[in-house]
Amino acid sequence: MSLDWNRRELMLAAGGLAITGLEFPLATYGQDPASQSLDPLGKDLIFRTTDPRNGEPELAQLVKSWITPVKHFYVRSHAPNPVIDIKQFRLTVEGKVRKPLTLDLNQLSQMPRQQVTATLTCAGNRRTEFNEESKVGGVQWEAGAIGNARWSGFALADVLHQAGVLEDAKHVWFEGLDQIQRPQGVIPFGGSIPIEKAMVGGEMPGALLVDQMNGSALTPDHGYPLRTVVPGYIGARSVKWLGKIVVSDQPSPNHYLATAYKIVKKTDPIDWTESGPIYRYPINGAIATPQPQARVPAGVVDVSGYVLPSGRPGSRVQRIQISTDGGSTWQPAKTTGQSSEFCWQLWKARVKVTPGTKALYLRATDTAGGFMPARVPWNAKGYLQNRWYRLPISVT
Ligand code: MTE
Repeated sequence: MSLDWNRRELMLAAGGLAITGLEFPLATYGQDPASQSLDPLGKDLIFRTTDPRNGEPELAQLVKSWITPVKHFYVRSHAPNPVIDIKQFRLTVEGKVRKPLTLDLNQLSQMPRQQVTATLTCAGNRRTEFNEESKVGGVQWEAGAIGNARWSGFALADVLHQAGVLEDAKHVWFEGLDQIQRPQGVIPFGGSIPIEKAMVGGEMPGALLVDQMNGSALTPDHGYPLRTVVPGYIGARSVKWLGKIVVSDQPSPNHYLATAYKIVKKTDPIDWTESGPIYRYPINGAIATPQPQARVPAGVVDVSGYVLPSGRPGSRVQRIQISTDGGSTWQPAKTTGQSSEFCWQLWKARVKVTPGTKALYLRATDTAGGFMPARVPWNAKGYLQNRWYRLPISVT
């Protein structure tokens, strides 16, 4: 555990803190005493770094339920959780709009509330698999940087309609209230999405401004008091601790859109400029059980995991297959639990293994034409690793 938790985190750990106007329900920080003693914010995760907080759950825990409990929902933060005074908190909407807005949470909650279930996943999920070829920097994620939650909040499109978007608007920038130390100074986390995505309304809005996760107020780790959730896009576009929205004719100049979160071979200016920002995530999946290197007797073995179909509207998992012979032959897996747009699909399979079986492989396809390929070219930041998932086992 890191020794430098900020004051608020320590107070939360000590029993909950009334933050001027909003009481945190401490129960949401982990129900069982064991997980609370491990982490002051009640997370039951494997922390890859503790300052800032970056952690993923054990895969066997992760696939136990279609909705990921907050304590098992991965955290990816570039700086410590900011301390936000709810009384002072305002969301501003500016730029290419007829009527700039400054909204407190009460004003925001006058908007129609919307609920969606959507999966969030980090572009760096499964990054460590790139290390087989050459080590990549960044948080060393295995396959747990993913989670599926019920989000409640307000459609970005409704807020933008209220502000009145001008004709030449092309991108919507989001800016967080966190402070990230970079070589050129302190910056907030930010990014943008295309205006077309931002203006999607209806039951599955293109983007939401969210204040609740799984029925409770967002926790500090997940962006309290307000964040964006952009179904279908990599997690980096879902900006936590949201403070500012700017409507522009340009993409956001923020480092995390303009430079980071791109597929590059080298981290040099030519590659950065040649490569566009990643928005939508591709299909991906993992085998969650058995454990890697598990010793299993020859015969039938139960396998389970998740597959996330590519982040296109309407895309669903089409086929999930397991191979016990290195990809020569494939056996079907069965989907379990719910199936929903922009959500992962859990699955189970029973496959036959022999002493010759060295590994189990997973591959999948979706209705948008997405497929997990046998290999993915190495990239310097280790993003979008979605090759066949390989789980080494030892058959006795
Ligand atoms: N927003 C802010 N303000 N700061 C951050 O560091 N990390 C992003 C995104 N939003 C980040 C952020 C990244 S890279 C991911 S994958 C998701 O938040 C993770 O969301 P979670 O921590 O709620 O799982």
